[in-house]
Amino acid sequence: MMTELTSSDREFIFSDEHFARIRRFVTVHTGIVLPDIKKNMVYGRLSKHIRKQFNGNFDDFCDAVENGDSEVQDILVNAITTNLTAFFRERHHFDFLSNTVLPELYKKNHLTKRIRIWSAGCSTGEEAYSLAICLYEFFKDKPDWDVRVLATDLDANVLQAAKSGVYDIERLNQLELKEKKMWFKRGTGDRQNLIKVKTDIQTKVAFKRLNLLHQWPMNGPFDVVFCRNVIIYFDKETQAVLFKRFAEIMRPGGYLFIGHSETLFNVNDQFTPLGKTIYQLPS
Ligand SMILES: C[S@@+](CC[C@H](N)C(=O)[O-])C[C@H]1O[C@@H](n2cnc3c(N)ncnc32)[C@H](O)[C@@H]1O
Repeated sequence: MMTELTSSDREFIFSDEHFARIRRFVTVHTGIVLPDIKKNMVYGRLSKHIRKQFNGNFDDFCDAVENGDSEVQDILVNAITTNLTAFFRERHHFDFLSNTVLPELYKKNHLTKRIRIWSAGCSTGEEAYSLAICLYEFFKDKPDWDVRVLATDLDANVLQAAKSGVYDIERLNQLELKEKKMWFKRGTGDRQNLIKVKTDIQTKVAFKRLNLLHQWPMNGPFDVVFCRNVIIYFDKETQAVLFKRFAEIMRPGGYLFIGHSETLFNVNDQFTPLGKTIYQLPS
């Protein structure tokens, strides 16, 4: 049985006021809402930084965050974000992309021969590379097509991992052997427990740091947006603003994919639900 951490169990003083200050910054800056039950999680994720850089003093940490110290703000944001992801997570989304969306875009975009997909909230990159694999498989005998994935996240640490394209071999456990061989290279010697995404796939993805709540520097239009398991942590108003902005940056008829426990119900009515958390803009 799990027992709750009480203030006397904690190494450093972490008051309700500290939590309120941290929570305020995180919600305004990232959209992530931290309910009361997350207080211990926040303490746990921050305590090593508080020990190392702030002599165990949460007051100093909160002051630095509020005074705009961007390094400390990054520590906070990187510690708070939940980065769970996987290659081909919710495989049915990738099947729908490969079997329905890409054949449709192949006809629709034949004049421009261009397809743009956005993985918004890409974490360590598995989603973006899974998208790039779908593009690679569909377009490998059509070299005149310009097909790319933009992958963005707010957390600098996960982006660094994503850009490397290197993963522990266990991350591929869900894939068939032939898929592993087609899309990844295995390390040798003391790197034999690592795999790297093959170059032809890796070069289709551009990773950039982007806070979804801030201005977006790109123009789009995107044919497809994957924003999965990101808005689950946002309140409804933030979700509504975000989906309106997605609709603006997407092509008419564009497809939006969200996480299995997320919904646009009572949040946005511009997209038509197609089932299985797949949505489409009118053409
Ligand atoms: C659980 S991961 C989802 C990864 C992937 N989309 C998937 O479904 O497997 C959520 C990601 O959203 C990112 N995120 C949270 N708030 C964000 C924001 N305001 N702007 C950009 N990314 C954000 C987090 O850093 C985290 O990497």
